[in-house]
Amino acid sequence: MHAIMLDITDAATIEAAADRIGDRFGRLDVLVNNAGISGSSGPTAPATADLDLVRRVFETNFFGVIAVTNAMLPLLSRSAAARIVNVSSGIGSLARMTDPEHYMSRLAGHAAYPPSKTALNALSVQYAKDLRERGILVNACTPGPCATDFTRHLGLPVTRTADDGAAIMVRLATLGADGPTGGFFDDDGVVPW
Ligand SMILES: NC(=O)c1ccc[n+]([C@@H]2O[C@H](COP(=O)([O-])OP(=O)(O)OC[C@H]3O[C@@H](n4cnc5c(N)ncnc54)[C@H](OP(=O)(O)O)[C@@H]3O)[C@@H](O)[C@H]2O)c1
Repeated sequence: MHAIMLDITDAATIEAAADRIGDRFGRLDVLVNNAGISGSSGPTAPATADLDLVRRVFETNFFGVIAVTNAMLPLLSRSAAARIVNVSSGIGSLARMTDPEHYMSRLAGHAAYPPSKTALNALSVQYAKDLRERGILVNACTPGPCATDFTRHLGLPVTRTADDGAAIMVRLATLGADGPTGGFFDDDGVVPW
């Protein structure tokens, strides 16, 4: 295990991380875009949202994924079976958010975190299309409600451990060549968009 400091909103640290991985290993087999922030430090209800905060959430949860992925692509392209896993959220599912039968349809509206994950889902589909011919499989996943620093600060009920949440990431990171690409998954299978 090798730890590398990386701020996904800082181009210099991203470039430095790619250089270190390249120098040491010459290629990258798996990229898990896991870093994410909730924006719970300020108002994000659509009608009263702090626009700077919404931008910061998108900077990490969406633009940061593009920055890191593109910096790592030359290394991923040198792998025989590169996989990209984008850690999204069930809250990014428009289908769940609008299904009257699903509890998420009754959650309060937010302009930052849920749309940032919906955008990440859309981005995952576009990367999957772009990278399919190179044999790079790109999928989004949701870890479910896990007990982490993230949920501790939100005070939400959680039913899963961080290990539980990581299982779907490992599964998508180790897909065979005939595995899916451009999908959205949790432990139970396909998550509706
Ligand atoms: N926990 C859940 O129930 C849940 C449910 C659905 C989806 N998710 C998603 O799962 C992912 C992981 O969440 P988590 O629960 O493990 O949250 P967490 O405990 O708050 O951890 C988030 C991680 O992201 C890192 N990070 C944030 N901004 C970063 C940046 N600019 N550059 C580099 N790293 C950055 C943080 O690093 P520092 O600590 O150094 O800031 C931290 O290690 C997130 O994308 C989240 O949206 C979580």
